[in-house]
Amino acid sequence: MNKNSTSIIILAAGKGSRMKSPKAKVLHEISGKPMLFHIIKASKDISNDITVVVAHQKDAVIEKINNYFDDINFVVQDADNFPGTGGAMKNITPKNDKVLVLNGDMPLIRAKDLEGFLTNDSEIIMSIFDLNNPDGYGRVIIEDEKVQKIVEQKDASIEEIKTTTVNAGIYAFSKDVINKYIPLLNNNNAQNEYYLTDIISMAKDDNLTIKPLLVDEEGFKGVNSKKDLADAEIIMQDRIKTELMNQGVIMQLPSTIYIEEGVEFEGESLIENGARITGKTKIVNSHIKSGTIIEDSIIINSDIGPLAHIRPASHIEDTHIGNFVEVKKSTLRSVKAGHLSYIGDAEVNEGTNIGAGVITCNYDGLKKYKTIIGKNVFIGSDSQLIAPVEIEDDVMIAAGTTLMSGKVEKGYLAISRPKIRLIKGFFYKFFGKKEN
Ligand code: UD1
Ligand code: CA
Repeated sequence: MNKNSTSIIILAAGKGSRMKSPKAKVLHEISGKPMLFHIIKASKDISNDITVVVAHQKDAVIEKINNYFDDINFVVQDADNFPGTGGAMKNITPKNDKVLVLNGDMPLIRAKDLEGFLTNDSEIIMSIFDLNNPDGYGRVIIEDEKVQKIVEQKDASIEEIKTTTVNAGIYAFSKDVINKYIPLLNNNNAQNEYYLTDIISMAKDDNLTIKPLLVDEEGFKGVNSKKDLADAEIIMQDRIKTELMNQGVIMQLPSTIYIEEGVEFEGESLIENGARITGKTKIVNSHIKSGTIIEDSIIINSDIGPLAHIRPASHIEDTHIGNFVEVKKSTLRSVKAGHLSYIGDAEVNEGTNIGAGVITCNYDGLKKYKTIIGKNVFIGSDSQLIAPVEIEDDVMIAAGTTLMSGKVEKGYLAISRPKIRLIKGFFYKFFGKKEN
């Protein structure tokens, strides 16, 4: 494919009022990435010249997209004077002869869905599909097998509204078509907007060839509301998990597992039901048990959970993490931490055992401090390690110890236990009961 022959314009300037959100519609996330990210990712397989039209919340949109891509052009729509999808095209000067225009609210589009638009047999190719419930979509009026026009729902006559063939929202135009017809659009319609879709009837009147391309509904679904967002998420998750299973990951009850776009797997891992794996996580030959959350971390040859929480920037290798253990920004190698612990800003080395209820007290209310634990250390249950702490190799920390900041040298035992007082008969005296 020649990526230099097609220009792609993505319309992302609209208010998205049906989304009922202070956030720009195209920034709402699907599988951890903005909708607009997904559509740009698909576009990049087709073209090296991608322009995103922005207006509503443009700074937020530009900033977000620049976090992911460094070669996107942005054009600002004059949305006050020229609202609508046609208004969005007003400031566009296409670079290549072939121009694909995509709505920015179609996060399920894949590169393979766009290939049908790349032929040069018509001056206009437009996407259509048939829906039982065409509500909200522009209706495509076809007579004698020829596309006549696209009518928006709000402008449709009673007859037209019954049409179940709808405009899916992706078009291929020649550069000449754009240069000629965009300036001719007007806003004489129910919404007083400049509709890109009006190009179709004008082009038809001029006898241009307009090819309706029947596309599959799944990839071309427009997301206008939060219900649409949830429906699109289900489809995206299914795609992500299917691909991972094809790669060799085992999933129990995959419909209950959430894995974000960008999570990587290597080798064979087993993911139990209810796991949530997000961000830039990489998992190699591991067992992720039920109800576990893993965020932006690396897990190698380990078993995690059930119900564990691995927070960002953790590196866990050859390690057993049990239930109710939270790990944050810590490196653990060949460690066992079986129950009820918080391990934050720590480095824990080979052969070390972390007892139940051990807490690294990493925060004093102002700053975070590190805990460094050597090899073959045994940390007894319910100990608190008040950071900054360094524990050398071969150390025992007795159960219930509060280890104040500082260092425990190799081979030592650290124990802090108040002396126990045993008071005979206290229970009976306190409750005024009789001993029997
Ligand atoms: C649009 C089509 C409709 C089609 C549907 C498919 C028009 C007039 N209607 O309707 O025929 O069936 O998509 O999903 O094109 N946008 C701008 N600037 C604006 C307005 C919108 O850039 O002033 C962008 C939006 O951010 C969005 C895209 O254009 O990404 C589509 O806008 P939207 O309002 O969702 O159009 P629909 O009503 O869904
Ligand atoms: Ca839409």
